[in-house]
This record gives sequence, structure tokens and C-alpha cells, in this order.
Amino acid sequence: MRSYKEGIACQYLKETKYDRESIIRRDDLGPIPRPPVYKDYLDSPKITLPNPAFEKIESLWDILNQRRSRRRYTSEPISMTTLATLLWAAQGITLSAPNYQFRTAPSAGALYPVETYLGIHHVSDLKHGIYHFNVLDFALEEITLGNFSEHLTLAALDQAMVRRGAVVFIWTAIVLRSMWKYRNRCIRYIFMDAGHIAQNLQVAATAMGLGCCPMGAFYDEEVNQIIRVDGEEETAIYLAAVGNL
Ligand SMILES: Cc1cc2nc3c(=O)[nH]c(=O)nc-3n(C[C@H](O)[C@H](O)[C@H](O)COP(=O)(O)O)c2cc1C
Repeated sequence: MRSYKEGIACQYLKETKYDRESIIRRDDLGPIPRPPVYKDYLDSPKITLPNPAFEKIESLWDILNQRRSRRRYTSEPISMTTLATLLWAAQGITLSAPNYQFRTAPSAGALYPVETYLGIHHVSDLKHGIYHFNVLDFALEEITLGNFSEHLTLAALDQAMVRRGAVVFIWTAIVLRSMWKYRNRCIRYIFMDAGHIAQNLQVAATAMGLGCCPMGAFYDEEVNQIIRVDGEEETAIYLAAVGNL
């Protein structure tokens, strides 16, 4: 039997450590093409999001104190403005510089490898379906209309909060966005980026009196199929359900 130390987790950490030698040593990955920073679905119907509502909230200290992963929601829908506010909090653009647009959440090298898709279950004025968040245009792009809540729940190991959620955030990684620069070490950074985004979402949801729970447990390829990504160049890495309490 192999020791856990020979398993892929320990090997990955070992092989992607920086030390004073490895940081300058050339790896053998060959040239890696740099993909665009933004993804859009030019042929899909686009829904412009309303402006986020920056309503007065409790102090940050109270919100951090209240933050919990909440899994039980009512079936009351959330509004488009609430959804827009959550998307802005998670990944909205806050500063435009000549070559970069910076966002609410930090990203290694400002490369922003994480894309957001939404499973919409109960959002006022928005049809059920799977949508992509176009960060640059602050808009949603339709991927597939229809009620995917059951399908998505089963893909998330039958976790009932997916079915109950008004919306399910599905985060993917476009791996080459980070890999062209950070090579194999990119996987560390991609998951750190996703963690920052999810934390922003959960803190904002808490501030707005909503429930939110992140999820790492799901059948990857089933989720990839639902959102129609290939699972190689782009693959689902993290989910979060949000709903009214
Ligand atoms: C990376 C990650 C993956 C998680 N995956 C799940 C999950 O699949 N299902 C679930 O019910 N909770 C999941 N959680 C929520 C944790 O169970 C929760 O954060 C933990 O119990 C601590 O509780 P708190 O968030 O309320 O402080 C996940 C949290 C993280 C950070």
C-alpha cells in the first residue's frame, strides 16, 4: 500500500513549493498560451443587472461575528437588485487602471481565473435557468433556460440547500489564465482566489440578512455539464447557495 506521502496531495504541495532554486529553475511545461481575462457569450441573450444597492448595514465587526454557513432557506425570492449586490460584492470591478480592472476580491497577479455561473431558482423578474456573470458588462448571459434545481442538487451530492436556495453560485477556473504565469503552482492560487470570492459573498449575504453556504462537495463533471464547460480548460471548483432566512 502506498503511503499518503506519495499521494497526489502531498506530491503536489512538495513539487510546487518555491525555494530559492526552484523559483528560477525552468520547468518543462513549454510555452502556455495566455487566454483572455474576460469570457463572454456573444450570441446569448444578455440581461443588464441593476445597480447594486449599497444600503446602510451593521458594523463590519457585528457582521463578522454573525457570519455562519446557513443551509435552510425560505422559498421567498430575492430581487434582481439583491442579486446584483451579491455579484458586485463577490467580484465587482472597483478600479480601472490602463491594463487591469481590479475587483472587490484579490487575485494572484490580477489574473482573475475564476468565472461565475448562476443556477437561478427564485429571483424576481429572472427566468429559471443557468446564467453566466459577465463581469466587465455587469450583466448576465443566458446559458440554458429551465428549472435546473433538481439536477444541480443531485450534482451537489443531493445537498438540500441547493434545491432550497434562491440562487446557486457556481465558480469555475479557467486554469490557463493563471497557469501561463504561475505554471503548476497556479492551482494553489486559483483556490485561494475562489476562497476570497466566496468569503466576500458570504459576508455580503450576512450583511443583507440572507443565508449562504459554500460547498466543495459536488460531482465535478455533472456540474460542468450543467453549465456547459469542458472540465479541462475550464472546470467547476466551488459552489455556494444563497437564500432568504
Ligand atoms: C472549502 C469549503 C467547502 C465546504 N463544503 C461544504 C459542503 O459541501 N457542504 C456543506 O454543507 N458545507 C460546506 N462547507 C461549510 C463548512 O461546513 C462550514 O464553513 C464549517 O462547518 C464552519 O461553519 P461556519 O461557516 O458556519 O463558521 C464548506 C466550507 C468550505 C470553506
